[in-house]
Amino acid sequence: MAQLKVGIIGCGEVSQINHLPSLDFLNDLFKVIAISDVSNQVLEGVGKKWNITKRFLDYHDLLNDSEVDAVLITTPHVYHCEQTLAALEAGKHVLVEKPMAMHLEDADKIIEMQKRTGLTVQVGYMRRYATAFEEAVKRVKELDKVMLARVHDVIGRNALLIGPSSKVIRGNDVSQTLIAEGNALAKQKILKAIAEKAEDLSLAYNILLGLSTHDISAMRELLGMPKGVLYAAARAGGLYISAAFDYGDFICQFETGIDDIPRFDCLLEVYGQTQALRVEYNTPYVRNLATRLELTTATPDSGLHKEILQPAFEDNFTREWQRFYHNVTTGTQPKTNPEDYRQDLELFMQIMEKL
Ligand SMILES: NC(=O)c1ccc[n+]([C@@H]2O[C@H](COP(=O)([O-])OP(=O)(O)OC[C@H]3O[C@@H](n4cnc5c(N)ncnc54)[C@H](O)[C@@H]3O)[C@@H](O)[C@H]2O)c1
Repeated sequence: MAQLKVGIIGCGEVSQINHLPSLDFLNDLFKVIAISDVSNQVLEGVGKKWNITKRFLDYHDLLNDSEVDAVLITTPHVYHCEQTLAALEAGKHVLVEKPMAMHLEDADKIIEMQKRTGLTVQVGYMRRYATAFEEAVKRVKELDKVMLARVHDVIGRNALLIGPSSKVIRGNDVSQTLIAEGNALAKQKILKAIAEKAEDLSLAYNILLGLSTHDISAMRELLGMPKGVLYAAARAGGLYISAAFDYGDFICQFETGIDDIPRFDCLLEVYGQTQALRVEYNTPYVRNLATRLELTTATPDSGLHKEILQPAFEDNFTREWQRFYHNVTTGTQPKTNPEDYRQDLELFMQIMEKL
């Protein structure tokens, strides 16, 4: 099998803790040959640690490298759209971290460019590549009738989970001008997305883009696209959000928030009349923790049968890269492609309308 040569744009937390180890684990399929970061300290530190010699402060130089087949985009949200478009323009396949784009117009630019180039664009929804989740997608179709669903994601701040478990190379050498430009661009994109609500609800929108995007995209794969949002409310300045999605015959309750308890309380539940299923995720920042599927079934003797499927101590980022390799080398459309991502943005806009 031919190895894909990968370039990474943005070498912070998720690159160092998750993507680089997964790509190394899959070194029969991938080789990281180039990296880019606007922090020279991060660039040099990560380059030395992982023995990557091509190091670029400007990502355009990485994209001009003809040896690079595919790029991973792991910069802050605000740069994802422009960097994805530039990568496609340069003829590279792309795995872009969520959120792919901050508003619909940017999402549409990527959709159009992906179609025009025919290159692979896969959005980094690694939870949707977990074996237990994919098993749940099969099993949900076997339920007699869905009566209720629940999507729950209340987690401790990232730093509480990362601090004791990983050593991340960080930089304090990014120019204030660049930081200010990034902040101004983010403000502009949020304003374009939610207009007058940007004043009070930027945090809520950022939570949707940064965290809920995982939950809501998994909900869509499990249950399909809802008919609409019945209700939504935010508290604590937007840090906590509750919503109810209308599926016609049933409702899916959604709740999320970030607190100071170092744990990951994240699940999807679907209740049928005689069987319920539940997918439980653990933090991605400690690698290879299992994603579990629990099935609770009524038995004919008025009892119940509980089954826990824990297919493997696999890493969901590794799974997403395996699928990326397959998609690129066979020309298969990723299930987490730009059009799929757009549906999450559509639902975020409906939630924001209710807030
Ligand atoms: N799939 C997941 O579960 C998951 C987990 C964490 C983060 N993420 C996503 O990954 C992205 C990065 O998150 P992170 O936590 O690693 O952030 P981070 O701040 O730790 O890292 C971002 C890196 O990008 C660099 N950077 C900024 N602008 C750049 C540019 N123009 N060119 C090159 N490098 C640039 C920064 O210097 C920094 O090193 C975010 O969009 C986030 O939503 C996804």
